[in-house]
Amino acid sequence: MHSPAHDVSAPSLLEALREGTGLLHVALEKRLPFFSERLDASWYQRLVRAYYGFYAPIEASLYDRDLIPVGYDQALRVKTPTLVNDLNALGVSDAAIHALPRCAHLPRLDTPAACLGALYVLEGATLGGQVLRREMAQRLDVNADNGGAFLNVYGADTGRRWRDFLDYLGHMPLDAKARQHAVDAARSTFSCFEQWLDSQEVLL
Ligand code: HEM
Repeated sequence: MHSPAHDVSAPSLLEALREGTGLLHVALEKRLPFFSERLDASWYQRLVRAYYGFYAPIEASLYDRDLIPVGYDQALRVKTPTLVNDLNALGVSDAAIHALPRCAHLPRLDTPAACLGALYVLEGATLGGQVLRREMAQRLDVNADNGGAFLNVYGADTGRRWRDFLDYLGHMPLDAKARQHAVDAARSTFSCFEQWLDSQEVLL
């Protein structure tokens, strides 16, 4: 007997997001310099500046419009303040941070579904952060107190927060069209971020 629970023709939102962004993740990961022998303290600082230049406007765009479906704890998950702390710890003053260039070519986040797609990318990045945190601690002696807090933004809660986020995503009743909006926004988040980092000359 055919049971809807076993209908594999429509992928879940998470499956669609993974399928839609997997290759973009691999491509960006290859160009990020975290594992390059040429990465030094000054390049690392330029990288944190460039991350700020993307996270500040995209988080503002996500949070200002109030389109994120209920259940997402913004106060707990906002990451720009951690980047500001890291920049301060690296010796960048608040005035200098304020004057940093910011990405103007952001994904279109004009529907709740699009917001979910972008949030998937920003939340997922905390997982890779765990790998990068260890690498930066070993090689550049960067840790949570001297400019590396962003790489461990959720600390020991990283795994739990990711599972909570997946649970939240799993409860979103998106139809096929909305699901496609989410995937498009997730893909666009990856590509806008890569283009931005490229323009700031911090990629390999
Ligand atoms: C060199 C840099 C990076 C490395 C080494 C890396 C590594 C990883 C690893 C190991 C995972 C899987 C973790 C797990 O399954 O427990 C992961 C997941 C993920 N990363 Fe990255 N990552 C990097 C950069 C990024 C960036 C810059 C973004 C986006 C801005 C990103 C977005 C994601 C997403 C969305 C997932 C979740 C995939 C899923 O399970 O659905 N990553 N990353």
